[in-house]
Amino acid sequence: MTQTNALAIILAAGKGTRMKSGLAKVLHKIGGATLLAHVMKAAAGVDRACVVIAPEMEAVGEAAKALDPTAEIFVQREQRGTAHAVQTAEAAFANFGGPVVVLYGDTPLLRAGTLGEIRQALDGGADVVVIGFEAADPTGYGRMLLDAGGRLLGIREHKDASEEERKVTLCNSGIVAFRSGKTLGDLLRRIGNDNAKGEFYLTDALALAYDDGLETRMVRSEEEEVRGVNSRAELAAAEAIIQQRLRASAMEKGATLVAPETVFLSHDTVIGKDVIIEPNVVIGPGVSIEDGATIKAFCHIERAQIGKGATVGPFARLRPGATLAKDAHVGNFVEIKQSDIGEGAKVNHLTYIGDASVGAGANVGAGTITCNYDGFAKHRTEIGAGSFIGSNSALVAPVKIGEGAYIGSGSVISKDVSPDALALTRTSQEERPGWAAKMRARRSRKK
Ligand code: UD1
Ligand code: CA
Repeated sequence: MTQTNALAIILAAGKGTRMKSGLAKVLHKIGGATLLAHVMKAAAGVDRACVVIAPEMEAVGEAAKALDPTAEIFVQREQRGTAHAVQTAEAAFANFGGPVVVLYGDTPLLRAGTLGEIRQALDGGADVVVIGFEAADPTGYGRMLLDAGGRLLGIREHKDASEEERKVTLCNSGIVAFRSGKTLGDLLRRIGNDNAKGEFYLTDALALAYDDGLETRMVRSEEEEVRGVNSRAELAAAEAIIQQRLRASAMEKGATLVAPETVFLSHDTVIGKDVIIEPNVVIGPGVSIEDGATIKAFCHIERAQIGKGATVGPFARLRPGATLAKDAHVGNFVEIKQSDIGEGAKVNHLTYIGDASVGAGANVGAGTITCNYDGFAKHRTEIGAGSFIGSNSALVAPVKIGEGAYIGSGSVISKDVSPDALALTRTSQEERPGWAAKMRARRSRKK
C-alpha cells in the first residue's frame, strides 16, 4: 500500500484450546511459516503493527518482534472479548490519525490485495469497513445485517441472533478497519457486554457507527481467504490452500510441476523459469531454484540454493547450507549439508557431503563419505576442482584434496593430498592361484 501510513492491530490473545497444543495457536505453521507470520506479511503494507497477546504468551511477542522489530506488543490480562482486546492497544491508536485495521492472528490466508480494497473503501469515504463473505455454513459466525438500502447497519453474533437472523449467510470475517484511531476510540468507549457471552464484542462498533450516521461499508472476500484456524484439521485445510497458491504461483512463473498436488513448497520458495519438479518433492523454507534446474522425484530440500541447470535426485536430501552451482549434479541417495558443490561437479550416488566444498568439475564417486564430525566438533573437507574421488572413500576432516588429484576407491584419507597426485590407502591385492578350487574339494570330502 502506498497511501498514508496505517496501523494494524493483530488479535492473538485467544487460547486456541481446540489445538490441544503446548504451542500458542498462532505459532503453528503452514507453508513453512507461522500463522502469525502470514498475517504480518499480508499486513506488511501497513506501517505499524501491534500484536495483542495473553499473559504467558511471551513466545508470540518474541516471534512478532523477530518478524518486525518495530511491532508493538500488548498484553490482554483477561480475555473479555474482541473489543476489549483492541482496547488493550489503546496507547498505539489513541492519537493515531491514519486508518486502523483489526486482523486476527489465526486467519492466515488473507491476501494483501483484500487489505488494499479496505484501504480503497476508506479512501473513498467510508468510516468503518468490514470484510464479509458468503458462508457455506454460517453457524458460529456473526451475521451481516443490512438496511433497506443495502447499507451495513450492524453485525449480530450467532449466539445472540434470532431465528430469522440466523438464516443470513452473509457473515463477518472479523477483519475490520476504522478511518482513524479516533473513530475507533469513540466507538469502543460505548461498547458494552450485555450479550449472550457477556463479552465486549468489537462487532457492536458497526451498529454504533451506523446510528451515529457514519458510513459503514462491506468488502466481500472468498470464504477461503478469511477461514480461521481453530483445530489441527483446520490447520491442515489451511495448509492445503496455501500449497495450492504456492504451486499455482510457481507454474505461473514458468516452472513445470509434473504432479503439482504432490509437491510441497514454502512461503518463501523462489523458483525460476523452466525448472522441472517431478512428483513427491518437499521443499522447506529458504530454498531457491534457478532457471532450468530439475528436481527429480522424492527429494527433500531445505535452506538450499540450486543453481542454473543443476539436477537433483531422485531421492536426494539437501539440508541447510547446501549450495549447488550451475549444472551441478546430485543424484540418488545423496545427502548434502553446509557444502558448496562447484559448477558441473557430480555427486551422483549414495554419498554424504557435509561441511565441504567440492570444486568445479570434480567427480565424487558412489559411496563417498565426508567424515566431518569427530564426536566433538565439525571439520571441513575441501575437494579440489577437477579431482576424482574413487567410490567408497572416507574423507576424514579436516582434509584437503588438491585440484586434479585422484583418490583410489575404498581409501580412508586423513592427510591432505597434493594437486594431481594419486592417493590410496587400501592394501595391495594378492592372488593365490587355485585356492578356491582346493577349498571346495576339502569341504566336499568332509561331508
Ligand atoms: C468473531 C466475530 C464474529 C466473526 C468471527 C469470524 C466478534 C465478537 N465476533 O467471533 O462476528 O464472524 O470472529 O471468525 O468479534 N481474541 C482476543 N481476545 C479476546 C477475544 C478474542 O485476542 O478477548 C482474538 C482471538 O485470539 C481470535 C480473534 O480475537 O484471533 C477472534 O476471537 P474469537 O473468540 O475466535 O471470535 P469468534 O467468536 O469466532
Ligand atoms: Ca473464531
